[in-house]
Amino acid sequence: MRALIARMPKVELHLHIEGTLEPEQLFAFARRNGVVLSHPSVEALREAYRFHNLQSFLDLYYQGTAVLQTERDFYELTMAYLERVAAQNVVHTEIFFDPQSHTHRGIAMGTVVDGITRALKEGEQRLGISSKLILSFLRHLDEEDAFVTLRQAQPYLDRIAAVGLDSSEVGHPPSKFERVFAAARELGLPAVAHAGEEGPPEYIMEALERLQVMRIDHGVRVVECPGLVARLVEEAIPLTVCPLSNTRLRVFPDMKSHTLKQMMDYGLKVTINSDDPAYFGGYMTENFLAVQDAFGFDRQTLLTLGLNAVEASLLGPDEKARIAERMRAAVEQ
Ligand code: HPA
Ligand code: ZN
Repeated sequence: MRALIARMPKVELHLHIEGTLEPEQLFAFARRNGVVLSHPSVEALREAYRFHNLQSFLDLYYQGTAVLQTERDFYELTMAYLERVAAQNVVHTEIFFDPQSHTHRGIAMGTVVDGITRALKEGEQRLGISSKLILSFLRHLDEEDAFVTLRQAQPYLDRIAAVGLDSSEVGHPPSKFERVFAAARELGLPAVAHAGEEGPPEYIMEALERLQVMRIDHGVRVVECPGLVARLVEEAIPLTVCPLSNTRLRVFPDMKSHTLKQMMDYGLKVTINSDDPAYFGGYMTENFLAVQDAFGFDRQTLLTLGLNAVEASLLGPDEKARIAERMRAAVEQ
């Protein structure tokens, strides 16, 4: 099964590009850009990656973004991620970026988008990884700031496939962003949102009804509300679950306590993703291996998880069919 997990073509739907900043690269960018860091070494920084909740992670994550300053930084960051997951047989990835974490430091939207998308294009040509870029609004900031961000993104909409919502969840319900998501919809952008990671099931409901999202990021707290589970099953709403993120941020005390298997048994469209792999101890393969170790899934279940991601992606029907075929072939081999 471990060999199968390694060779299976994989689709990633929940990945924050800023969360792929490995400590070594963080220190290299800091040196190049003359940024003084609060941790003395790579080892000391890694040592600090012991989180007790979402906020304790976000504090370090936003601190880390300070080293990202030039188009070249964003290009190299994205290229390094793509090289790593190419070696794990990721064939398609949908990538969040948090523009406000950069524009608030005086970095232009164009610098960020140009760097990321130059790498994505090269990743497609040289590594055979297709991709979509998702602009994510920071929910701890107000809706007006999200509107400013959407306006700044307008010249780049040909390279942005959807909008998302992330950052500190509790106290910042999806309804806070109803108008800016409506404006994004007017521009033809589909929507996704983080909901039910630390926040209550009501936030999942709000994301569906008020933001009209096509999928829910995390959504693990849905199991607390049987009526909502039934609705997500009925409407086949995908959930982008991030197992190592959930254990590292103490959403669950350990992998065996994760509700992933229960969610699959309910018939929910669950997918496996890495979220912020540089901070949570693993990319796609490590996430699959962690759930495999905890639940001992059979081939069919692994294939279902993979195919769910293909189906839930922003790809067109022909591209979906092509990847699904490759997945089936790898599992039957
Ligand atoms: N949740 C909320 N905000 C985030 C996350 C997450 O898992 N990763 C990066 N920003
Ligand atoms: Zn996330």
